[in-house]
Amino acid sequence: MKIKKQWSEFKHCLTRNQHDDKVAFVKSFLKNPKTMGAIYPSSKRLAKIMASYAVFSQNQLIVELGAGTGVITQAMLSRGIPAERIIAIESSPDLVEHFRMHFPKIKVIAGDASHLAELLKNEIRPIGTIISALPLRSLSKEVTERILSAIPAVLTPHGRYIQFTYDLRNNARFYPQQYQLAYKKLVWVNIPPAKVEVYTILPQE
Ligand SMILES: C[S@@+](CC[C@H](N)C(=O)[O-])C[C@H]1O[C@@H](n2cnc3c(N)ncnc32)[C@H](O)[C@@H]1O
Repeated sequence: MKIKKQWSEFKHCLTRNQHDDKVAFVKSFLKNPKTMGAIYPSSKRLAKIMASYAVFSQNQLIVELGAGTGVITQAMLSRGIPAERIIAIESSPDLVEHFRMHFPKIKVIAGDASHLAELLKNEIRPIGTIISALPLRSLSKEVTERILSAIPAVLTPHGRYIQFTYDLRNNARFYPQQYQLAYKKLVWVNIPPAKVEVYTILPQE
């Protein structure tokens, strides 16, 4: 009987937390649709696939861009990646507050990813992976270009950049030449369906 009660309390708490996430996300979307880029958080399936590509060896850090309510962060933790290896960057002050409440052990930096080098200037550990849910196709061209040129400058040579997009077409020219596509995977269980792309960043010639 006691176990049944505890289970029901646990389920209630779980549903409430997921509901909280969705409410926070939709509120932010209504405030700023272009920087959110989606009306709904990523599905657990999409988050799990994104997280499966993150490299966590040799004391390297993983930097998450556009962490939002933390669905991808949670997938990385569930994969066994320690919280101290993750740094989240998020530009929406409301979502930063939401994220801090739900992930107190993860360092979250409130700021714009186009100032990546500045935001990470105090970090001395090597950054092996950047995992991003930034809506690059709906941000301005100028901001997207700044972000894409900032990424190679902070990643270790041959570091990994993981990004999803709702643009399912093959658009090789979207990224600068330094970005070499290593893997891609379509994820249908998401609203809308998405494509995960994993790039190796080649050293500048
Ligand atoms: C599509 S949502 C993804 C949120 C969450 N990671 C997920 O997968 O559900 C994009 C997130 O990127 C954030 N964002 C947009 N532009 C940004 C920028 N220039 N710098 C940092 N975060 C940004 C938004 O506030 C939003 O939380």
